[in-house]
Amino acid sequence: MIRQLDHVAIAVPSLDEAVPFYRDVLGLPFMYFEEVADQKVKVACFDLGGMRLELLQPTSDDSPISKFMASRGGGLHHLAFRTEDVQSELDRVRQQGVRLIDETPRTGAGGMKIAFLHPKSTQGVLLELTQPGQHVE
Ligand code: CO
Repeated sequence: MIRQLDHVAIAVPSLDEAVPFYRDVLGLPFMYFEEVADQKVKVACFDLGGMRLELLQPTSDDSPISKFMASRGGGLHHLAFRTEDVQSELDRVRQQGVRLIDETPRTGAGGMKIAFLHPKSTQGVLLELTQPGQHVE
């Protein structure tokens, strides 16, 4: 079941430029940097009290984020909903005709199991499902 927002992700060209704005100008509590090799991104995480803000910087031209940056120049990239079991949620929504990007979960930031739903099935928003895992820094 989906009950809460896990994180909001914003694509940025440079964490060096974006982090000082969110940390120092807005004053959001910075948590940590992390590189997610699977998605070819560097992530900066902020604590928003029960959920996170993630800034995503592509580390390679073939990162999925790079394609987004090229077409839109960065900005709001996806919303993530927390679940207790990503696979069973994927199965449940697939049965209702939802198009999936990931048929099975993969490992995302914070060691979470994650999977993306296709924007064609979600009114144009890239949605991620997450399942908390062990965080490895
Ligand atoms: Co995410």
